[in-house]
Amino acid sequence: MSTNINFRRIVKLVRVVEENPRVKTFWFKDALCSKAKPGQFIMVWIIGVDEIPLSLSTIGDLCSVTVAKVGDATEAMHRLKPDDLIGVRGPYGNGFKIVKGRVAVVAGGVGLATLLPLVDKLKDYGCWIEVFLGFRSKHDVFQLARVERAVRPNGAVMIATDDGSIGFKGLVSELFETHLKRSKPSYDVVYTCGPPAMIRRVYELCEAWNLKIQASLEAYMKCGIGICGSCCIGPYRVCKDGPVFSAPQLRKMPELGLYKRGPDGVKIPV
Ligand SMILES: Cc1cc2nc3c(=O)[nH]c(=O)nc-3n(C[C@H](O)[C@H](O)[C@H](O)COP(=O)(O)OP(=O)(O)OC[C@H]3O[C@@H](n4cnc5c(N)ncnc54)[C@H](O)[C@@H]3O)c2cc1C
Ligand code: FES
Repeated sequence: MSTNINFRRIVKLVRVVEENPRVKTFWFKDALCSKAKPGQFIMVWIIGVDEIPLSLSTIGDLCSVTVAKVGDATEAMHRLKPDDLIGVRGPYGNGFKIVKGRVAVVAGGVGLATLLPLVDKLKDYGCWIEVFLGFRSKHDVFQLARVERAVRPNGAVMIATDDGSIGFKGLVSELFETHLKRSKPSYDVVYTCGPPAMIRRVYELCEAWNLKIQASLEAYMKCGIGICGSCCIGPYRVCKDGPVFSAPQLRKMPELGLYKRGPDGVKIPV
């Protein structure tokens, strides 16, 4: 077996789980992925369609990626069944740094997938965890039981939905802000992943409340290994310098949450 993460491995899907109508989890075995750090991602080749970056949502003897259906590649992936093949290379990126203590985890939509192995690891380290989850509606909630298990016995899971069908009605960043104002918690770190506008707001709140942040960013990626420049935000390549960034780095990304790059590299307002 090669230990070079850049060689593509063809792996068989052993299980496909429908989390909700938009999100599926794909399980496979890969020795290099099983040694990944929470927050690292892999480049997944959907054979004959495209290669896309996806975070590992489970790291272990069996690994998984949890995928929202948003376009051609992810729609093709959603059509795959057990025994179908995908290509994987990686794991890539820096991943999250584990901070032992009192932590907040703020997830928007499928951004939770990136944070799931982190939450598992934080539990192993005995951290005191408060998790804030944002979804469009109760129908979009996934992997809640796993998160609830991880925060026991002292932590908490709070949910926000856009339509108020479960939990707080509004954005998860608003729920987080409300909680900060009401409880004035002193977190050792705030971990976050989700839509760029959400991350921007969580970052602003962390700046205002003097909280350390580790934010996993998304960007359009082609190579995944720092060569093509398609994933640049400010002075950073998300694939190579990230995808997890701290406050001093986020301060150098004024376009965060305001613009994204398309396949041609041109900035598009979001
Ligand atoms: C480090 C990293 C980790 C990721 N982890 C996950 C994950 O765990 N689960 C998951 O569902 N998705 C994840 N993504 C996003 C995923 O890569 C995109 O949704 C996918 O590439 C879209 O491909 P597509 O062909 O289906 O859609 P496209 O046709 O390429 O695009 C459809 C829509 O999605 C947007 N989009 C495309 N690529 C990205 C991107 N990289 N980031 C944000 N929006 C994008 C486009 O602007 C467009 O609005 C991750 C992205 C990065 C960079
Ligand atoms: S995807 Fe090519 S430099 Fe990041």
